[in-house]
Amino acid sequence: MDLVLGIETSCDETAAAVVAADRRILSNVVLSQIDEHRLYGGVVPEIAARAHLDHLDAIIAEAMREAGIGFADLAAVAATGGPGLIGGVLVGATTAKAIALVHGLPFIGINHLEGHALTARLTDGIDFPYLLLLVSGGHCQLLAVEGAGRYRRLGTTIDDAVGEAFDKTAKLLDLGYPGGPALERAAEGGDPARFDLPRPMVGKPGCDFSFSGLKTAVRRRVEELGGALDEKARADLAASFQAAVAASLVDRSGRAIEAFEADHGAGRPFVVAGGVAANRTLRAALAGLAERRGMPFVAPPLGLCTDNAAMIAWAGQEKLALGQVDGLDFRPRPRWPLDPGAAPSIGAGAVKA
Ligand code: KG4
Ligand code: ZN
Repeated sequence: MDLVLGIETSCDETAAAVVAADRRILSNVVLSQIDEHRLYGGVVPEIAARAHLDHLDAIIAEAMREAGIGFADLAAVAATGGPGLIGGVLVGATTAKAIALVHGLPFIGINHLEGHALTARLTDGIDFPYLLLLVSGGHCQLLAVEGAGRYRRLGTTIDDAVGEAFDKTAKLLDLGYPGGPALERAAEGGDPARFDLPRPMVGKPGCDFSFSGLKTAVRRRVEELGGALDEKARADLAASFQAAVAASLVDRSGRAIEAFEADHGAGRPFVVAGGVAANRTLRAALAGLAERRGMPFVAPPLGLCTDNAAMIAWAGQEKLALGQVDGLDFRPRPRWPLDPGAAPSIGAGAVKA
């Protein structure tokens, strides 16, 4: 039984997990730092790095204990090597290297985005190729996933990432941090048709995204309402925002399906991954698109959409199977695009993954 320990510390979750080569998750421990950052309304990199340093050893010990194994039972240690907040990435990668060195194990540096991208193979066992919509705090991309390490970017955001748009809009609506889940809760029972917000990029050629105009439109509506929102207005604005995001993601993904199927034929899976994929309204809209296009739809369970270490351990398994391990001289990379061949764009390899 090949077991990989995964470590994730690239943003505000300190996480460790043990995953077997046969896709069993033996343990998956996630410690959120929400309370440490709430006062500041967002993630403070220095606080995040210190919190990772304070908690990571205990989280790893818990993951090993839950899995019921010792370090000698591992086949490799994998840690997020970027992209992300460099202080946290250094804590995780250095800890993983130390474990690897002491126990004579291979170390594998994982691209955090690849962790999200390969999660559907962990949860649903799907084969390559598949079309992926990767939606997180720092990224919004459509990718043809042709193999582990083989990604072709079909579209990306030209300004804000979709999670960033959720977080900024939540702030405008006074919903606090973390914004995405708060906005989703606020939208429950809201009227998505009350505010006529723009549908960014809908109908435009290509598969790129843009969300900063939508955020500005929400700000204007808030100003028009005199700045002070009652519960109903807040719920209706949140629901209208989500509806606009859903329309944009569905339109862009629809175009990407055409480009993807021209290369890979019909009927391959359509996968959504990343923290924003935890949003039920968006999942339902994307599931509808997949159904209309005759594609199996795969969305990981909510806890494996947001940041976790099981996805890092699994990506480690994929790399190990390909014999792709790293030396202890591996250097963490604050920016690390999934397909370096694609034209650089503002949204690619942003600081927050
Ligand atoms: O993948 P992730 O956990 O961390 C990054 O790699 O960025 O994604 C975090 C992002 C945040 O912007 C957060 O607000 C958003 O995912 N998010 C959500 C939901 N849960 C998390 N956005 C909308 N609805 C949600 N339920
Ligand atoms: Zn992430």
